[in-house]
Amino acid sequence: MKLEVLFTPAEFATLASRDLRETVCVVFDVLRATSTFATALHNGAKEIIPVSEISEALEIKKSRPEVLLGGERDGVRISSNGIEFDLGNSPREYTPGKVRGKTIVSTTTNGTHALRACAGAKTVLAASFLNLGATEEFLRRKNFGNILLVCAGTGENAALEDTLAAGALCEMLSGGFGAGANAASVETARRAYAQAKSNLAGAMSDSENARRLLANPALRDDVAFCLQRDTCPLVARMNANGAIRCG
Ligand code: MLT
Repeated sequence: MKLEVLFTPAEFATLASRDLRETVCVVFDVLRATSTFATALHNGAKEIIPVSEISEALEIKKSRPEVLLGGERDGVRISSNGIEFDLGNSPREYTPGKVRGKTIVSTTTNGTHALRACAGAKTVLAASFLNLGATEEFLRRKNFGNILLVCAGTGENAALEDTLAAGALCEMLSGGFGAGANAASVETARRAYAQAKSNLAGAMSDSENARRLLANPALRDDVAFCLQRDTCPLVARMNANGAIRCG
């Protein structure tokens, strides 16, 4: 098994020129897109369609008025061209009462871009601390040859929380991968997690994204929510049509 970690949007932007046909991409946007998607599926959403731009979400809504629009810009719910999105990007909003049986079209600053960037891969998973155990179990069971962990980051930068979740997965999978050309990225993520794991909440003081959420009284509880482990025991898998479903 060959494992590699990409830490920044600049790195995932190069994926279009890579042959990913034999690769599984595991995308992390711990704060908050992939945590939100795991929560939505756990609470009964039918599927999430991640799109990069607000205009794409609005276009889908025109032909499928039944879908819910979700996501954020600058961390808050989107309002565009007089249209209020139904949901923001707080996982705590995605309750069974709101999402059960629904298709949600979501656009976020980094997370949905990272997912779209992986579209050419054999398999694409949306992962977070909330569904890490189920994701690891799936990767082991399927015995993939190439696993690429893609951290969505914050703006143009790496995000500590994504690196830590990727490092946690590296630790869980450790032993199964060979020392390939990219082993340094795995070791970097694994060591970051090993150092922070006894106090993940404390480590969030070094996270730009966590600091931004913690400063907003309406969103501050999202940070602790997204650091919970395995509360959504499911695999969130993007299908060939670009929809993420329980897989
Ligand atoms: C993103 O996609 O950049 C995030 O999930 C940001 C957020 O939720 O605030």
